[in-house]
Amino acid sequence: MVEIQDPRFSDYESSVELALDSEIQALEQIASSLSKIERVAQALERVLVATEVEALQAPSVAKALETTEFDPNAYDYIPIDVREFLLILIELDALLAADSDYSHGQFRYRPVRFLEVGCGPGRNLFIVRKGGLLLWSAAEGIDIVGPYVDAARETYNLGGSVWQDDARTFDYSTYDVIFSRRPFSDSVEQTEFENNLVNKMKIGSYLIAPLNETHDRDSRLVGLDDLQVIWKRI
Ligand SMILES: C[S@@+](CC[C@H](N)C(=O)[O-])C[C@H]1O[C@@H](n2cnc3c(N)ncnc32)[C@H](O)[C@@H]1O
Repeated sequence: MVEIQDPRFSDYESSVELALDSEIQALEQIASSLSKIERVAQALERVLVATEVEALQAPSVAKALETTEFDPNAYDYIPIDVREFLLILIELDALLAADSDYSHGQFRYRPVRFLEVGCGPGRNLFIVRKGGLLLWSAAEGIDIVGPYVDAARETYNLGGSVWQDDARTFDYSTYDVIFSRRPFSDSVEQTEFENNLVNKMKIGSYLIAPLNETHDRDSRLVGLDDLQVIWKRI
């Protein structure tokens, strides 16, 4: 059988090949850029973590921590993954921008009063303050462990924005956004703390609470995000 080569068909074939080649090239460029961005992110993450480790290993802080009595029902400082925290801030920023309760004549949303419960040596607050991902009017933190507060002041220059305080008795009513990642290891203690926290939060304020015990069953809160860590007090 003789094969008939239709010239129109071979024109079509070579134009498809050309289009595919240029798409492959574009994808290769995107992959190469993503891999560089990933390396940049990894380097910045390592720098942030190293700074925090140095803060905790500073002689005065390390010495004070040695003699600190830790509550057996509470967690010691176990920091959230830097990227997880950054992604939460990006999500929160988008939610606030879309929330009419926070609308503002000049900015994307009204700058928020932010609190971190159990802020440890202050790395997350430093990220909030310097990262430019969130519009904030105050970014404050409390921790029950005094040497952590000292480290936050010395390393991140957080001064009076961090102080020693107890999450169980704190007044949360003046904050727009509260970040609390599991201060208590004991589930009864954590549950009591969560109930009191939500009780004291002002209506319309946001709660970011990974690893919580009760928030998805709490009728005073409505879940807002795909990550399932951000709620709004209703
Ligand atoms: C699991 S770590 C979370 C640290 C940080 N918020 C994060 O997510 O990266 C718990 C923190 O809560 C603090 N903490 C424990 N009990 C507390 C209490 N009663 N009041 C305030 N902070 C407390 C601990 O000292 C520790 O820094």
